[in-house]
Amino acid sequence: MTQTRTTLFSRIRNSIFWAPILPQTERERKKFLLNNLILHFRPRTIPEQTLKFTHTWGLGGIAAALVMLLFLTGIMLKFIYEPFPGRAYDSIILLQQDVWFGQFIRNIHHWSANILVVVVFLHMVRVFFTGAFHPPRQFNWIIGLILFFLIIISNFTGYLLPWDQLAFWAITICTSMFEYIPGVGMWLQKLIRGGAEIGPESLKTFFTLHSAIVPACLITLMPFHFWRVRKARGVVTPRSLRDKSEPAVRKVPTVPDLILRELVVALVLIAFILVFSIIFNAPLEDKANPGLSPNPAKAPWYFLGMQELLLHFHPLFAVFIIPIFVIGFLILLPYFKYDSDVTGFWFISQKGRRMAMVSAFCAVIAMPTWIIADEFFIDFTAWLPGPPTVISNGLLPVVIVAVVVIGFYLLIKKKYAATKNEALQAVFVLLLVSFIILTLTGIWFRGQGMALSWPWQVGVME
Ligand code: HEM
Repeated sequence: MTQTRTTLFSRIRNSIFWAPILPQTERERKKFLLNNLILHFRPRTIPEQTLKFTHTWGLGGIAAALVMLLFLTGIMLKFIYEPFPGRAYDSIILLQQDVWFGQFIRNIHHWSANILVVVVFLHMVRVFFTGAFHPPRQFNWIIGLILFFLIIISNFTGYLLPWDQLAFWAITICTSMFEYIPGVGMWLQKLIRGGAEIGPESLKTFFTLHSAIVPACLITLMPFHFWRVRKARGVVTPRSLRDKSEPAVRKVPTVPDLILRELVVALVLIAFILVFSIIFNAPLEDKANPGLSPNPAKAPWYFLGMQELLLHFHPLFAVFIIPIFVIGFLILLPYFKYDSDVTGFWFISQKGRRMAMVSAFCAVIAMPTWIIADEFFIDFTAWLPGPPTVISNGLLPVVIVAVVVIGFYLLIKKKYAATKNEALQAVFVLLLVSFIILTLTGIWFRGQGMALSWPWQVGVME
C-alpha cells in the first residue's frame, strides 16, 4: 500500500477535494476500478520511480494531448474550409478575416501539428535511450513506429490544404521524389497526386486522408498503444547507472498520483500553445500558382533532411535505398541480439553516456565539414566520368560513408573497451545527430537554387 509522503502531490491527493471521488472501502475501490475508463488503459498502480518527470519527460502524454487538441481544432476548421482549388485559399482567408477566433484556431491547429512531429520524435528517442523497446515492449515499439508514420502522413496531407504557394510547391517537390522509387515509383506518384500533376484530385485525396482516414487510424491505434503500456505494467522502471541492482519497487496508485501530474503537464502545454498561437500566426503565402515556382522550392521541414540527402547522393540512394535501410533498422531494432539487459538505464551505462556525447560532438564537427566540402570541392561525377552516376554519385559515396561509420564503430569500441550495445548506441547517436544537422541545414542554410546560404538570405521568391 502507498506510504504517506509530504510532497505537494500527496497533499493534494489527500485533500478534501478528492475525498468524494476516491474510494474509501474495498467494495468502493473495486467499483471504482471497474467503472474508471482511465484504469482500462493504465495499470492500477505504478512504480513510484516512474513518476520522476525526467524519466519520460511526459512526452507520450504530451503527444496524446496534442492529438486531442488537433482533433478539436480540426473539427472547428472543417466548418469553414472548402477542399476545392478554386475555393480552398479563399476559405482560409475568410476564416482568418471574417470568422471570430478563426485565425487563432488555425494557429493552434498549425503549431500543434508541427510541435507534435518534434514531440513524437523525441518520445521515440527517449524510448530508445532508456532501452524501452526491448521485450516485453517490442510490439509497442512497432505500434509506435506506425503512429509516427501516421503523424507524418497527417502533417503532409494537411500541408496542401491552404492551397498557397508554400503548400503547392512543397507537395510538388515531395511527390516528385517518388519518381526515383524503382518499379512502382511513377504509379505511386500518380496515385497520390490523383493524376500527373497536383490539382483538384490531389486536394480531394489529401483532404480525405487528412480529415477522415488518418484520424480514424490514430483513434484506433492510440488506445492500443496505451493498452500495451498497461500490459507491460506501466513504463519501463528507471534503474540507476551507478547501482545496477533491481530497484526496490514502491507502488503508488495511478489515480490520482500519475493522472494529476499528467493533468498539470497537459495544462501547461495547452497554455504554452495558446500563448504561442496568440503571438505567431500560421504562415500563408500567395494563392497557389502552378506557373510560378518559388526559389528555393522546399519540401515540408520534416522532409528537408531527405531533400538535403538528394543534394549529396544519387536520388535512388537518397529517397529509396537509405530510407528503406533506416526504416528496416528501426523495425528490427527490438529483435536484434543484445549482450546484456539494458532496459531502464538511460544510455545503458556511464560509459555509454560519455560515448554518446563524444559521438554527438563528432557528428557536429564532421557533418557541416562534409556538407561544405561536398558543395565546393567534391564532385565524383566529374572526377569519374566513365561509370553511370548511380555508381559515381550513389554507390561510391555511400560505400565511403559506410566505411567511415564502421571505422568509427571499431575505433570507439576499442578506445572505451565498450560492449557491443554501447558501441552500437554510439553509432546510432552519430547518425541521429547527423540527420538532425542535415534537416537544420535544409531549413536554415539553403537559399536560391538550394545553394548554401546564410539564414537571412533564405526564402526569396523569384
Ligand atoms: C501519436 C504518437 C504517440 C503517442 C500519443 C504515444 C503515447 C505514449 C504514452 C502516453 C506512453 C506512456 C508514457 C510515456 O512514455 O511518456 C508511451 C509509451 C511508449 N511508446 Fe509511445 N506514443 C506515440 C508514438 C510512439 C512512437 C513513435 C514510438 C516508437 C517508435 C513509441 C513507442 C513507445 C513505447 C515502446 C512505449 C513504452 C515505453 C516504456 O515502457 O518506457 N510511441 N507512448
